[in-house]
Amino acid sequence: MEWNASLYDQRHSFVWRSGEDLIALLDPQPGERILDAGCGTGQLTEKLAASGALVTGIDSSAAMLEQARIVCPQGAFVQADLLEFEGRGEFDGVFSNAVLHWIRPPERAAQRMYAALKPGGRLVIEMGGTGNAATLVGAVNAILAEEGQPAREPWYFPGIGEYSHVLEEAGFEVVYAMLFDRMTPLEGGEEGLDNWLKVFGGPLLDGEPQWRASALERVREAVRPRLFDPDSAAWRVDYRRLRIAARKPA
Ligand code: BEZ
Repeated sequence: MEWNASLYDQRHSFVWRSGEDLIALLDPQPGERILDAGCGTGQLTEKLAASGALVTGIDSSAAMLEQARIVCPQGAFVQADLLEFEGRGEFDGVFSNAVLHWIRPPERAAQRMYAALKPGGRLVIEMGGTGNAATLVGAVNAILAEEGQPAREPWYFPGIGEYSHVLEEAGFEVVYAMLFDRMTPLEGGEEGLDNWLKVFGGPLLDGEPQWRASALERVREAVRPRLFDPDSAAWRVDYRRLRIAARKPA
């Protein structure tokens, strides 16, 4: 998928703003080596680096990394797909925010994060959890069902038990897990939902331009009662986050 780094940064800062307290869960220390898996435009990488840790950010998008190098000049950045990342036990911590729901198979992603950590190393991740963005995904699938097309599940949104199992199979000890709702306001007023779908919703509304335009119109009206807040004149997405901390045994 091609990422629009400037639209992502201008209108979707909630992605990294809401990830800030995740850093406290990792508690990076000066001199520690931390891998930011799927660093995007580098805002959280920069916050990790501000703790004095030595950070490496990886991302598969060159456009995102170009921005990340500006935002976090003290970081090391590598264009890489997590599934192919050849870490060799050199990191004290692996951190990942709002990325792992894009990556399949999750088992391989877990193995790559495990391989990157030193014995005793810490993993802290947040991703979409089961039921994430259910109103939007449900509205698109209702349209597809009416048209006799199969339902789409473009993202991997596991529950606590499912993802803990994935991590444990990779060798991790899960020490903390939480699944929680985060109704997230979008910037851009009436345009907010279309912008979100433009940046993130490609695989959900994939199709001919004419079908896309009409599906978007129908989705917008179907979800409006639940996702548009008339008081603030803003769209919201019904995010549900899965937050997990785990350890590679010493
Ligand atoms: C999320 O961060 O939860 C998300 C982002 C894009 C598509 C779906 C979910």
